[in-house]
Amino acid sequence: MWRFRLFPDQASTTARQVDLLYFGLLLISAFYVLVVFAPLFYFSIKYRRGSKANRVNPSRGSFAIEMTWTIIPTFMSLGLFAWGATVYYHMERPPADALQVQVVGKQWMWKLQHSEGKREINELHIPLGQSVRLTMTSQDVIHSFFIPAFRVKQDVVPGRYTTEWFKPTRLGEYHLFCAEFCGTKHSGMIGRVVVMEPNEYQKWLSTGDVGDPVVVAGQRLFTQLGCSGCHENPGGNNAIRAPHLEGIFGKPVPLQTGEIVTADERYIRDSILMPQAQIAAGYENLMPTFKGRISEEELLQIIEYIKSLSNALPAPAGANGTTR
Ligand code: CUA
Repeated sequence: MWRFRLFPDQASTTARQVDLLYFGLLLISAFYVLVVFAPLFYFSIKYRRGSKANRVNPSRGSFAIEMTWTIIPTFMSLGLFAWGATVYYHMERPPADALQVQVVGKQWMWKLQHSEGKREINELHIPLGQSVRLTMTSQDVIHSFFIPAFRVKQDVVPGRYTTEWFKPTRLGEYHLFCAEFCGTKHSGMIGRVVVMEPNEYQKWLSTGDVGDPVVVAGQRLFTQLGCSGCHENPGGNNAIRAPHLEGIFGKPVPLQTGEIVTADERYIRDSILMPQAQIAAGYENLMPTFKGRISEEELLQIIEYIKSLSNALPAPAGANGTTR
C-alpha cells in the first residue's frame, strides 16, 4: 500500500531534537503569518472602496504598540537562536565513547572502515544505542554524507577531515545518500545504514574478510614507509632527527616560525603530505613529502596509529614494543 510520509523515520537521538526545532520554527512562522495576514484581510475588506466604515479618526501611531511588536519578536528570535545553537553544539560534539569509523568518499562510492579493521562499501553497519563517530575525507571532489533518518548531513571535503556523529535509537535499514552534486553518477552514490543488535554487530565484525585493526595497519605503514626510522629512536643515543610522536596528538606544537599549532588530524595529515610547510621548532627540514605515495585510507590509518600513541589508557598487552 502506498503510504505518504512527510518525514523519514526518527532513528537517532539527534533526529528528535532536529525535528522539534523544525516544528518550533514552523509554528512561530505560522504565528507571524497569522498576525500579519489576518488583520490585513480584515482591514482590506472593512476599508474597501465604497464601504461605509468610519474613516474620521485616522490612527496617529502608538508608542506602546511599537514597543510591543519590537520587544516580543526580539526575544523570540533570541530564544530560537539559543535553541538552534544548543542543538548544533550537541551535534558538533561527539561523545568520547563513540565508535570510530573512517569514511573516504570518491566518485562514486563510499568506502568505510571500522577501527576493528572491517571494511565496507556503500554500507554502514552499526550497533543499536551506541554513538558512532565518522572521520571523513574525499579523494577527489566534495561529497556530502547524509543519513536522513538520523538527521545528519556533513560535507566530505578533499584535503581535510570532517566529522559527523550519531546514536541510533531504532533497529533497521536506513538510506545513505551523497547530498552534494559530485559528477555524472552523483545520484548513484547511495547506500544503506544497517542498525543491528550489539551482539549481532560483534558477530558481523568478525565475519567475512576482516583486515587488521586500523591502528595495527597504521603501525605497519609507519614502519614500511620509513617514518619510524626518524620518528622513533630506540637506541636513545642517536641525534634526534625528528620529533617523537608519543603523546603528541591533541597537544600544542611550537613551530620554527614561533607559531604554535595543535597536533590534530589536520596537522598530522599536512605534516605527512607537506612536511616543509610547518616545521617543528628545533628540527631541520629533512622530511620528504609522501604526497602521491599514500592513499587517503593509509593516511587515516597512520593518523589513527599516531593517535593511539597518545591514549592515556594502557596500551593493549603486546600491542607493540617500540613505544615508550
Ligand atoms: Cu558524491 Cu554526490
